Amino acid sequence: DWTPDAFVETTVAELKEKLGDESVILALSGGVDSTVAAMLLHKAIGKNLYCIFVDNGLLRKNEFTNVLKQYETLGLNVTGVDAGEKFISALAGVTDPEKKRKIIGNAFVEVFDEESHKVENAKWLGQGTIYPDVIESVSVTGGPSQTIKSHHNVGGLPDYMKLKVVEPLKLLFKDEVRRVGRSMGLEDKFISRHPFPGPGLGIRILGDITAEKVRILQEVDDIFISGLKEDGLYDEVWQAGAMLLPVQSVGVMGDERTYESVVALRAVGSTDGMTADWSHLPYEFLAKTSNKIINNVKGVNRVVYDVSSKPPATIEWE
Ligand code: XMP
Repeated sequence: DWTPDAFVETTVAELKEKLGDESVILALSGGVDSTVAAMLLHKAIGKNLYCIFVDNGLLRKNEFTNVLKQYETLGLNVTGVDAGEKFISALAGVTDPEKKRKIIGNAFVEVFDEESHKVENAKWLGQGTIYPDVIESVSVTGGPSQTIKSHHNVGGLPDYMKLKVVEPLKLLFKDEVRRVGRSMGLEDKFISRHPFPGPGLGIRILGDITAEKVRILQEVDDIFISGLKEDGLYDEVWQAGAMLLPVQSVGVMGDERTYESVVALRAVGSTDGMTADWSHLPYEFLAKTSNKIINNVKGVNRVVYDVSSKPPATIEWE
């Protein structure tokens, strides 16, 4: 029978054997997958694990600073790289979702490549890839209407980087990753963190991305997520977030007519992200959150709630 303790024991032994005294570099995302992958590698090879945490300018509000601090408390050797401007300028004017993912993925590889050259004797690339990432990236069997999103954390780096890939969680589902994290003493705030896509807010801003739109969506998202936490709803949903729509609608503020953006809130229940049901959040919570957003976030005058399940809708809108 599979148990997290046994998984940790076997995996750490295998990693020691496989890696010897070679160094591994690993990109942390702030999510539970890369964190647990890093902890396993850290346990196996200690100081030979070098972690990099990149601010792609598309993270949640204050996420970069907060998460970097939390990683330090875990004893991991982490370098934070602030690359926001690079990503935002590479994305200027791009509206196609898959193009956005490619641009974000490529920019990420460039930043990572540059950082990895600073690590002596790096032979391995560590990744927190889990089983559903693998399936969603390779099963292109659904015919022309089925678009498979390119997860930038699958498939590794270009050949010229000459790094071997090590993915200790490749056969696990998300709930198993959480159990492994828990058995290794990872704090609840890491374990219970909602999944967040690698391309971040870049695929939650429909249409083209600007620094101003990122700022607006960060505020909206922060109000939504903080509200879920305050009302004890955060752990009731599997994932939640907000989308900034490329649509303006008419509203009224005082006695003036406004013409501003619409945001959509999305919260779902799921076990692995492959299927998902929209969460029946309390009406009072939705009402309060909508008011808070419209009253506090300049540029937004309408809030809608997504009541679609997966399939056929995906969790992200892009
Ligand atoms: P969808 O939108 O396909 O999302 O229903 C399923 C889960 O995957 C996450 N997601 C991504 N994660 N890179 C990632 O690392 C991506 O490009 C990406 N697209 C979607 C999504 O947030 C959800 O948890």
